[in-house]
Amino acid sequence: MKRAFYVGLILALAMATGTAQADKPSKAKGLERVKQELVTPPMLPKHEQTAKGKPKIVEVRLVVDERELVVDPQGNAVQAMTFNGSVPGPLIVVHEGDYVELTMVNPKDSVMAHNIDLHAVTGALGGGGLTSVSPGTQVTIRFKATKSGVFVYHCAPGGPMIPYHVVAGMNGAIMVLPRDGLKDQNGKPLRYDKGYYIGEQDFYIPTDGKGGYKRYDSPAAAMTDTLEVMKTNEPSHVVFNGSVGALTGENSLTAKVGETVLFVHSQANRDTRPHLIGGHGDYVWQSGSFDDPPQTNLETWFIAGGSAGAALYTFEQPGLYVYLNHNLIDAILKGAAAHVKVEGEWNNDLLEQIKAPGPIE
Ligand code: CU
Repeated sequence: MKRAFYVGLILALAMATGTAQADKPSKAKGLERVKQELVTPPMLPKHEQTAKGKPKIVEVRLVVDERELVVDPQGNAVQAMTFNGSVPGPLIVVHEGDYVELTMVNPKDSVMAHNIDLHAVTGALGGGGLTSVSPGTQVTIRFKATKSGVFVYHCAPGGPMIPYHVVAGMNGAIMVLPRDGLKDQNGKPLRYDKGYYIGEQDFYIPTDGKGGYKRYDSPAAAMTDTLEVMKTNEPSHVVFNGSVGALTGENSLTAKVGETVLFVHSQANRDTRPHLIGGHGDYVWQSGSFDDPPQTNLETWFIAGGSAGAALYTFEQPGLYVYLNHNLIDAILKGAAAHVKVEGEWNNDLLEQIKAPGPIE
């Protein structure tokens, strides 16, 4: 009886002082710090494919940039909301076990509050619950990259603002590499010569009733009309890296015969199915997890809305390749296509035109 009383008293005191539910401390203290210079997609930041030494604290900085973004050659535009000025935001690259110390800045000339939900983060709505920043403020969080793979991040300020900010371009991805690098289905190391990050984006621009699209002067002004178009789930544009043609013509991706290219592909809102015309996905992590063996020799792969995936391909023929969403309406009528210009020697053993088109004999 007496003992129960004391146990009860101790528990009550412990709860009052908060010691019964003491938070576990981070183990990041004392680890080496490095700054990652983030770059505009489709480029990847400088990184090692296999981790050197112990886990590190990787510092990254994301700055909100609300800006008008021209999305097609006709000059139609959206009131975009972005991380670091690009759609998608930059790809962050770390290794499993590293800590990411992320500072998010919302400049004072913004009109909206923003935050970040990273699918690589454990707890607090992926960081969304800890990162809300109104204009003129900044916040820093540190999270441990516990799972290897590619993961989407996006703004999620609550209610209808969640999809509104996501389809205004406020999303990107993080790649968490295994410490010993990528591996094939038998555990053999896989390396890439270069990597590209393709962020696919659906836009919902309201029409003006005269065959054109409306234009607005701020994300706040565009909101009501855009939400109405969003409810139809019929995007006006589906593009790679912010606009129709962002990765074609002069902006084409490049490779050489014999080079192995890693294509990271994210879509924060809508399903997609990447396909490389004239090539294959030699190794594909379509759900994004590098802990799972890659699928091999795929023709088309599936990236579920709200996720990122990765594909590795070694080019064997020179020429122009089209990397697209094999929903061909999205690719050709709405914009979701990129070009890869590949230099090198043609291999007739793989493909040869035996007789050019001519009269039927
Ligand atoms: Cu936002």
